Amino acid sequence: MSVRVDLHCHLLPALDDGPRTDEETLALARALVADGVGTVAATPHRTVRFATPLHELTARFDALQRLLAAHEVPLQVLTGSEVAVDALLDMPETELQALRLGGTGPLLVELPQREVGGDPTWIVHDLLKRGVPVLLAHPERIPFFQADYASLRALVDAGAHAQVTAGAFTGRYGRTAQQAALDMLDGGLVDVIASDAHHADLRPPELESARRWLAEHRPSAAFDDLAVHTPAVLIPRPAPTL
Ligand SMILES: [Fe+2]
Repeated sequence: MSVRVDLHCHLLPALDDGPRTDEETLALARALVADGVGTVAATPHRTVRFATPLHELTARFDALQRLLAAHEVPLQVLTGSEVAVDALLDMPETELQALRLGGTGPLLVELPQREVGGDPTWIVHDLLKRGVPVLLAHPERIPFFQADYASLRALVDAGAHAQVTAGAFTGRYGRTAQQAALDMLDGGLVDVIASDAHHADLRPPELESARRWLAEHRPSAAFDDLAVHTPAVLIPRPAPTL
């Protein structure tokens, strides 16, 4: 098993609905290592509700690095956040740039996980037009994309990349998300598989179990090509068939 890069993970303690304490963060970090991860982007939610100031976020990343080093957990951490569209609307440009994965990779953007009136993808098209690379968080769990794969394809054609969550394949998020994940994979829309892990036990990484599940159900899917890359080097997509 190669060393994996996980581009979506709630690893920072006490910032969002991820680990609540340093101990829970350490348990999740060890679960990531056990799941084959060598590099992880720590991506706490950045929403109107979870609006951690940038200077505090930087301090928290530094503290996480020290925590992992002190406990000899062999995990490289990239900075980042999972940015909700409501937080993007009036976000200063300096903050938006600072929240990109690893500082220079794409911005991990989450569209609403509920039904919304209208098309919420305009804000992603706007980011792309402004030259901000975008990695879409778990489109398989976004009702707008579940109902309309064509809008996801339009974003991908415009240069966005899509991240499906490992647990979606194994059914953790229900049959609709599972089917959407498979359809998106078969349609050549998926660039990245990430854990979106929140907790070592309650929402664990599951990269290896997803790889095994896909090996059985989609033997042609090169799982580790999708899970292993750096933010700056996203793999080329196969030709669309959706
Ligand atoms: Fe997330």
